[in-house]
Amino acid sequence: MAELKFENANERKVFEEVFEELPQLIKTKCKGYDELYGYKLNFKDEDQQVVKKYYDEEIAKHLIFKICKAFQFNKDQVTQRIVDVLNWRREFNPLSAAFLETHNPELEEVGVITQYPEESPNKRVVTWNLYGQLVKRKELFKDADKFIRYRIGLMEKGLRLLQFQSDDNNYMTQVHDYKGVSVFRMDGNIKKCTKQVISIFQQYYPELLWAKYFVNVPAVFSWVYGVVKQFVDEQTMSKFVVLSDGKKLSQYLKSAPSDYGGKQQGLKEQNIQNVRPTEYGLYLLEKQNNEDID
Ligand code: HEM
Repeated sequence: MAELKFENANERKVFEEVFEELPQLIKTKCKGYDELYGYKLNFKDEDQQVVKKYYDEEIAKHLIFKICKAFQFNKDQVTQRIVDVLNWRREFNPLSAAFLETHNPELEEVGVITQYPEESPNKRVVTWNLYGQLVKRKELFKDADKFIRYRIGLMEKGLRLLQFQSDDNNYMTQVHDYKGVSVFRMDGNIKKCTKQVISIFQQYYPELLWAKYFVNVPAVFSWVYGVVKQFVDEQTMSKFVVLSDGKKLSQYLKSAPSDYGGKQQGLKEQNIQNVRPTEYGLYLLEKQNNEDID
């Protein structure tokens, strides 16, 4: 298990203070919502049985460390972001989007999750969006909420495969495949969905992306990159790589499937479909379900 790596005493101090204040924050600022990516954060829960059963201090610490890192250990910003993330999760219910809800099969079809244990660090969990296949299916973007719930569901499933206590597998890599995009205008609904998803990722999923590859992007579509990048912060942008030739992906991701220049089997054969929630996530979903019935 990796140690938390502080650069100086102040970072450690901020982290320890924030961590200690978590139970209070959850209680007073998040209406008791106590879950991040399927893990429990509150070690002072009144129900100590639940703490005993589900709380993993090491994971909780690594999760909070990530947020500290994202905001350079600025205590006010870190605290505010934790509150924002938990409140967003309370309202959006991303675990439900990932593990309970059913999505349009045409959307499910273009989302793939793969896992490469032998790949270089933080390229071991890869989520794929074959958005090029949707270029003629514009109606799928009409209902932005539906699209977003599908996309966040995929994100949460990918996160489930990370190991937050390990330095080698605590970020994910993403690929967008735009194969099939030929005559293309940035449709208003696509733009709206894109903008909203980007904004959710930036606000509520800090320090989770390692690299993002955009493949099969014909040179004539480089203008789209120009449009989309206005919504993206600089730090995130620095993780992007655009490749017009999809087969070149294997130069960056040596475990890439044959469709992308690698030696492995095809992408669809690698898709991991049976991602399950954490034990605690399952407990929360069941609890919500019982409350709904009551
Ligand atoms: C992000 C869809 C074309 C570059 C996104 C997102 C969606 C999307 C839904 C939100 C982030 C995500 O889901 O991970 C589409 C569709 C397209 C299209 C449906 C056309 C069929 C393009 C093209 C480019 C491009 C041609 C050129 C390289 C980007 C970039 C982001 C993005 C840079 C930001 C990614 C991020 O912040 O994580 N796109 N896109 N898109 N797209 Fe596209």
